[in-house]
Amino acid sequence: MNAHYSIEVRGQLSEASNATFFCVDAASGKEYVYKPVRGERPLWDFPDQSLSGREIAASEMDKLLEWDLIPSTEWLSNGPFGEGMIQEWIPEIDADRPVNLFSPGSVPSGWINVLQGHTQGGDSIVLAHANNESLQKLALFDAIVNNADRKAGHILAVNTDRFFGIDHGVCFHDENKLRTVIWGWAGSPIPPELLHTLKVCAERLGDPYQPIDRWLSPAERTALRARLENLISTEIYPSPSPEWPAIPWPVF
Ligand SMILES: Nc1ncnc2c1ncn2[C@@H]1O[C@H](COP(=O)(O)OP(=O)(O)O)[C@@H](O)[C@H]1O
Ligand SMILES: [Mg+2]
Repeated sequence: MNAHYSIEVRGQLSEASNATFFCVDAASGKEYVYKPVRGERPLWDFPDQSLSGREIAASEMDKLLEWDLIPSTEWLSNGPFGEGMIQEWIPEIDADRPVNLFSPGSVPSGWINVLQGHTQGGDSIVLAHANNESLQKLALFDAIVNNADRKAGHILAVNTDRFFGIDHGVCFHDENKLRTVIWGWAGSPIPPELLHTLKVCAERLGDPYQPIDRWLSPAERTALRARLENLISTEIYPSPSPEWPAIPWPVF
């Protein structure tokens, strides 16, 4: 549970909504993001001081699925600002983002258009994402964990074929809060091999599963299983809910 690091804070991330720090482990020289529980901004709809733990639960879900979508994430009980989560720092290459905004006509071929809108200046703009298996997995992952904040900026591209999802603090609510930029497969069949993985996972979650359950309320544990069962029985990707803003804004 306790990662044995010697974490030194090097800076605070200004675009973060919580107190989020860029750190280096003095022992290994490796870089990390550190989110102390104490730095979490209270939210109206999630219990206080639960967000860092939800990031661990999301990482454990990714491990259970064996999809390798989330950078290595661990609990740090003796961080510089107290307990919280640390996550491997992923150096990003912006140009390769799998979700982006384009002017109409410049969406890369093969990509899926999600939404057309206008900038403040009145120019037309299209939100679109790549059409590949990794992103299909991430869309399904978000449906499973009920991600309420999958911004385009919460997908870090390492290169054209490899990206990571970050910022899973507002996941696992027991009410439907799926808010994402990856709606390209809404209402489409879940590919058979991904469906198979969901079934294997549901079986593992048939019993209490402490690595995830320990971070969630009883209602949230039940809701997680219900979402999985629903995906398995309908065999289709969920569609936006009319009762909830489906797309995070701004998308970055
Ligand atoms: N593992 C990571 N690797 C690289 N950059 C990261 C990582 N996690 C967060 N960041 C950067 O820090 C910013 C804030 O992190 P985020 O997880 O969104 O924090 P918050 O929960 O405060 O919104 C991100 O937009 C991203 O630029
Ligand atoms: Mg964020």
